[in-house]
Amino acid sequence: MGVKIVITSGKGGTGKTSSTAAIAEALAIIGKRVLCVDCDVGLRNLDLALGVQDEVLFDFYDAMAERVELKDAIMHHPDISNLDFLSAPSDMAPGDIDEAEFNRLFDSAAEDYDFILFDSPAGLGAGFRLAATPADMGIVVATADATSLRDGQKTVNALKERGIENVRLLVNRVQKRQFRRIRSSVDDIIDSVGAQLIGVVSEDESIPIAANLGVPIMRYGARYAFDQYERIARRICGERVYIGKI
Ligand SMILES: Nc1ncnc2c1ncn2[C@@H]1O[C@H](COP(=O)(O)OP(=O)(O)O)[C@@H](O)[C@H]1O
Ligand SMILES: [Mg+2]
Repeated sequence: MGVKIVITSGKGGTGKTSSTAAIAEALAIIGKRVLCVDCDVGLRNLDLALGVQDEVLFDFYDAMAERVELKDAIMHHPDISNLDFLSAPSDMAPGDIDEAEFNRLFDSAAEDYDFILFDSPAGLGAGFRLAATPADMGIVVATADATSLRDGQKTVNALKERGIENVRLLVNRVQKRQFRRIRSSVDDIIDSVGAQLIGVVSEDESIPIAANLGVPIMRYGARYAFDQYERIARRICGERVYIGKI
């Protein structure tokens, strides 16, 4: 039975979508069967981060409305084996989608995957609730600044209120000069946010370049960030991996 993980944050632009794509790629490369689901209904963009924008035909609502079978709505990544993708409808609002039905859609799918990742929109509204509904685990993506960490704390609490106890923090877009501060305050950050760290990812300009070119992050050669994402993937699998150079 696959583990279902929601990737979320209070604020927009912290790197949820890029992180979903990179973690999914890393999990697939280490041999796990992965499905990633865009839950940003209306504003979907996980297809771009995965470099599959030209191949998407269906979305999860097509399967919910029984226009196609779920297996036909899911697409296989053309370059990365073990990596599957399910898009979000672009012409609906998150509130139009029934959470219980959405949840049921992934009950049977979980048997075919080791991990299902749900890329959440920002905020704690209907889109967040939709993405969190099926999840057994949450990863909250924040940047290292105080407002983002505070939003992260609210998001951690909101996930726990929904019964998701296994919540981890990913600090993204960390700049060199911030690393020392993060290293010295890692325990404070964990205490203030209320979740253990799953990893730290550097500011890496190849991430937006890859997304703009529409190629997968690991194919573009964001080696440094990708190595950090690979560590995160290994930690998700339960390996004891050194957190990286912080
Ligand atoms: N580690 C990083 N280094 C540099 N740019 C990043 C990093 N992570 C994300 N970005 C860029 O930040 C922007 C927002 O990222 P995105 O993943 O779309 O955030 P969200 O899904 O949280 O709104 C994108 O242009 C993305 O390429
Ligand atoms: Mg996003």
